[in-house]
Amino acid sequence: MFKEIGQKIIQLASVDSTNNYVASMLKQGKIEHGTVILADEQSAGRGQREAKWQSRAGENLLMSIFTTHDNLSVNQQFVLSQIVALSIIHLLNKYKIDAQIKWPNDILVNEQKIAGILIENQINLHYVKSSILGIGLNVNQKVFDNLNATSIQQKTEQFYSIHDVLMSWISSYNQILSIHQSMGKEKINELYLANLYGYQEKVDVEDENGKFQQKIDHIDEQGNLWLMRNNELKKYDLKEIKFLFRNTF
Ligand code: BTN
Repeated sequence: MFKEIGQKIIQLASVDSTNNYVASMLKQGKIEHGTVILADEQSAGRGQREAKWQSRAGENLLMSIFTTHDNLSVNQQFVLSQIVALSIIHLLNKYKIDAQIKWPNDILVNEQKIAGILIENQINLHYVKSSILGIGLNVNQKVFDNLNATSIQQKTEQFYSIHDVLMSWISSYNQILSIHQSMGKEKINELYLANLYGYQEKVDVEDENGKFQQKIDHIDEQGNLWLMRNNELKKYDLKEIKFLFRNTF
């Protein structure tokens, strides 16, 4: 269902957003499955919930990958988000960094954000035809102004070549795909839960009725989050719940 990526790599000095760049190449019919577009710098990097993605020029991995799918129905699309999140966890583990996933797909180290994921799908009726996997991974940045963020360099006190990190991530992604292929979405979900912030222990959360502490009960196939609230199991989508940290992001 999902295909290996990394067959072609295009490096740009500067762009508005690598996701926008892929979208416009796609419109012109000029991009093939598996292509990775990376940029030293973005003038209008985009995050989830209309947020901006800020990153110092040349210091981090900013990329978008174009992937087509043969038979991915819209109600199965969450597994792709899980695979991408797990590929970054897998990569960070290679640098001996213990990271967690903040539902649905932020990557944290000690409650500080090290990577963000923005997946944009091209949907045709009930099928996801292709996806743009946008990833921002903090590699060598040391100062984050007001953001509650960290980087591989901050955690390991070493400088890394962005190109090496990219190659290593491509291999991690393809390895997670092969786990999906051989062991199925149940195994991916198991790995996702094992790395999920707030699954093993209670954390501070906030919904429309206020702040409370709770563990995640489970995540359903559509990617909704379920937890106990006033003795009832309650379902939340992305806009309905917030995890609270020292600083929000
Ligand atoms: C988030 O955490 O809100 C998602 C951030 C995703 C940022 C990456 S950087 C490369 C790609 N291009 C973008 O404009 N956004 C994604």
